[in-house]
Amino acid sequence: MITLALSKGRILDETLPLLAAAGITVDPAVLDSRKLILPTADPGLRLIIVRASDVPTYVQYGAADIGVAGKDVLLEHGGEGLYQPIDLRIGRCRLCVAVRRGFDYTASVRSGARLRVATKYTLVAREHFAAKGVHVDPIKLYGSMELAPLVGLADAIVDVVSTGSTLKANDLVEVEDIMPISARLVVNQAAFKTKRVALAPLLAALERAVEHSVEHSVEQSGVPPAALSGRVGASS
Ligand code: ATP
Ligand code: PRP
Repeated sequence: MITLALSKGRILDETLPLLAAAGITVDPAVLDSRKLILPTADPGLRLIIVRASDVPTYVQYGAADIGVAGKDVLLEHGGEGLYQPIDLRIGRCRLCVAVRRGFDYTASVRSGARLRVATKYTLVAREHFAAKGVHVDPIKLYGSMELAPLVGLADAIVDVVSTGSTLKANDLVEVEDIMPISARLVVNQAAFKTKRVALAPLLAALERAVEHSVEHSVEQSGVPPAALSGRVGASS
């Protein structure tokens, strides 16, 4: 039995079509239930539903053999015990630094003052700013990062941006693009060897499904999916 860890919401929604293209379907009634272990039409594959940021942990410890996690989450986790063989090209967005409109970010950085940065991604933020020689005090939050600069909790945020509408709605502006993000298939390193016979066809089918989906997007529009979604720098 192969166990695949997924998070509800956009990762589950965008992974299901890839699984379907790979010949694996899930009963919609089961998807709508509150169950956390979901059978698929393939008796050799089941899904488990976990929080997005917990996917790498389940796979690292072998509670799931494979999982789907954003690159943002994987960077913050560190990727220990995981292989990341496939960029699924879903969950496309970018990690960026944003500040309140009118905040002089360049002057603040130049002044050498410590920047208070609210983020879910404290490790990524530390590394990003350390590489630039900017001193920061990361403030760990678990959501609604956009609020922090508005109420004086932080000078800047590091968060994922897709359409930019959340920043805009909260009068924030992007001042640095850190990196493009998409979701990866992750595999437990031990399972990669011990369950190779069962995993290899699944990974190959998912890889084909991703390629097909990219080709289909280009055929439909003449442009690659990154440009289609309007998400600058979303390819990787
Ligand atoms: P958690 O519950 O653990 O805090 P989360 O709320 O970030 O997780 P989701 O919002 O479902 O969970 O995001 C899952 C992944 O999708 C993120 O790790 C990121 O890679 C990607 N993502 C996040 N926001 C967007 C977005 N607006 N557009 C596209 N992809 C996104
Ligand atoms: C994510 C992210 C931003 C928003 C960006 O939040 O934290 O707030 O998406 O997307 P946009 O640029 O298209 O507006 P999400 O919708 O996942 O809510 P969350 O805070 O519950 O994670």
